[in-house]
Amino acid sequence: MMSTAYAWLTRSFDVQGVIVSLRRTLRSTIPHASHLDPDPDEPQHPFDRTHHVDTGGLFYPDQLNSGHQHDMHSAGYYATAPSLFRGAIALWQKTCAATGYRLNDYAFIDIGCGKGRVLMLASEYPFRQVLGVELHPELAGVAQANLRHWLRHKRACRDVLALNTDALSVAIPDGPVVLYLFNSFEQQIVIGLLTRLAAISERRSAPIDLIYIHPEFDTLVRQCPRMELLADQDIAFTPEDTAADVFGVEVDRCSLYRLPGLLRA
Ligand SMILES: C[S@@+](CC[C@H](N)C(=O)[O-])C[C@H]1O[C@@H](n2cnc3c(N)ncnc32)[C@H](O)[C@@H]1O
Repeated sequence: MMSTAYAWLTRSFDVQGVIVSLRRTLRSTIPHASHLDPDPDEPQHPFDRTHHVDTGGLFYPDQLNSGHQHDMHSAGYYATAPSLFRGAIALWQKTCAATGYRLNDYAFIDIGCGKGRVLMLASEYPFRQVLGVELHPELAGVAQANLRHWLRHKRACRDVLALNTDALSVAIPDGPVVLYLFNSFEQQIVIGLLTRLAAISERRSAPIDLIYIHPEFDTLVRQCPRMELLADQDIAFTPEDTAADVFGVEVDRCSLYRLPGLLRA
């Protein structure tokens, strides 16, 4: 199995450091170019080419300084492959029958939404609401601009929003919620998020589901009180997504969890 972009992102900094620094220096000399623009040397992702949006780029944590105290726990930016997202949603949908709720009863929240590719993909399903939270203001701004363009066309869900806020301060809406997490941050914030979800679930009846992609801190999730493991499966990329992936990733893992509400409905 090929290593994922995320693993590479954390491992390869030393090896690639010199090249990356050089590229960054060169990019910073281009007038008006944002340092969060995609690398002009990398081919545009087919999703961006087709929909005329910008969700590209691989950005290291040290490029994402927002001034927030949680910057130091960020894992950087890289967007989910569309085929991985759709595979994860298909897997999760199979688990919904057990709850008595349907997909359109759920609010979808991308925790660390970056440039908003997952928000756009989620809006192709009839979720009750699609919400993204992003710590870095410039990334959140790109997500908002993408959504303005995206929502000019008919979408299954039109209540789609990207907020510039920290994962630990987002208000979890009432009713069934599904959280999407693709390695946004390190252990400390994962623990903070799980602690908060466990407390919130004691005061509600509806479930909080978790779609966890490349679940690096799976052990922590499994230790969370009342958390139920629903599935744990590899999801294959389409050849198009593998070709577009900076590391040629062919498959990634997805774990699904459900935190039932403690109150009676
Ligand atoms: C690996 S990217 C995933 C982007 C998107 N969810 C996707 O799958 O396409 C993780 C994102 O989480 C953001 N992030 C990191 N720490 C965060 C925090 N404490 N609160 C909100 N967002 C955070 C990063 O800035 C980055 O954009």
